[in-house]
Amino acid sequence: MLKNYLTFINRKIKEIKEIVGEEKALSVLSGGVDSSVVTVLGHKALGRNLKVVFINNGLMREKEPESVVKTFKKFGIKVKVVDAQNNFFRALRGKTDPEEKRKAITAAFYKDVFRKIVKEKKIKFLLQGTILTDIEETVAGIKRQHNVLVQIGILPEKEYGYKVIEPLIELRKDGVRKVAKLLGLPKSIYQRMPFPGPALSARVIGEANPERIAIVRKATEIVEGELKNSGAFQYFAVLMQDKATGIRNNKREFGNIIIIRCIESTDARKAKPTKLPWRVLEKITKRLTTEIPGVNRVCYDLTPKPPATIEYI
Ligand code: XMP
Repeated sequence: MLKNYLTFINRKIKEIKEIVGEEKALSVLSGGVDSSVVTVLGHKALGRNLKVVFINNGLMREKEPESVVKTFKKFGIKVKVVDAQNNFFRALRGKTDPEEKRKAITAAFYKDVFRKIVKEKKIKFLLQGTILTDIEETVAGIKRQHNVLVQIGILPEKEYGYKVIEPLIELRKDGVRKVAKLLGLPKSIYQRMPFPGPALSARVIGEANPERIAIVRKATEIVEGELKNSGAFQYFAVLMQDKATGIRNNKREFGNIIIIRCIESTDARKAKPTKLPWRVLEKITKRLTTEIPGVNRVCYDLTPKPPATIEYI
């Protein structure tokens, strides 16, 4: 098995070298395991001809850009942070439908931000960490993953002016994690909890504007911090669109509702809620309602997948 993954690594390095030749390629890191593996493979194949960027789309978790740059610096890979927050918030303005939000993010990523970088740096190829599950779910119409293009009729070369290389397309998440470990990536990456491509905009029901993203970012920090030793497969916070009546300082407050989601799963295809101790839930509730202004109600989601999905949008 291990030998198979080593063979996979060598085959992919060779393939990337052959496709890109003497041209330049771009890898866009998100800090997740898929884009990290693709970046290391690309770096091994192309050296300085691989340009690595981290797009700060304004939808990331607290301190995420800084931590990604630091991790890859240790690895000898220079990551340029591109501030594209305005592009993404402009694209998301007024959008409340989940698929519309995904489409807006896809367009902002590929048409707006990447196309500009690619033109400036004269890049012909984009290395991308699409995996088999992304394709399967998108093609089956379950969810449009923002990185799936050709399979839904978008031809990147024609529409955006560059070719896309997808070295991980034959692997599922467990395979990518094994490759990441073999490549020497740190545990914080190869064991990283899944995080959706549309980032925190997927954790906000309704419009993902800077104010609402700031609320869910703070809630995410609290929930991730409190549950980091839970051993659960995935845990996060979601900001609801509805509001609820509460009482604070003897005054009526029509405030925000946060859902805590914490699940057990092996491959994200099925999931069960974690039986979290009551005191843990109480502590998180206390922190969410005191540390985030305007949050006055917290719920714990008890729904398995199916019929729910893990994420809310
Ligand atoms: P669902 O919500 O479909 O999620 O049960 C399955 C797993 O995929 C992760 N994930 C995403 N989910 N859009 C999503 O809705 C994305 O772009 C995405 N990227 C990853 C999700 O967190 C869960 O682990």
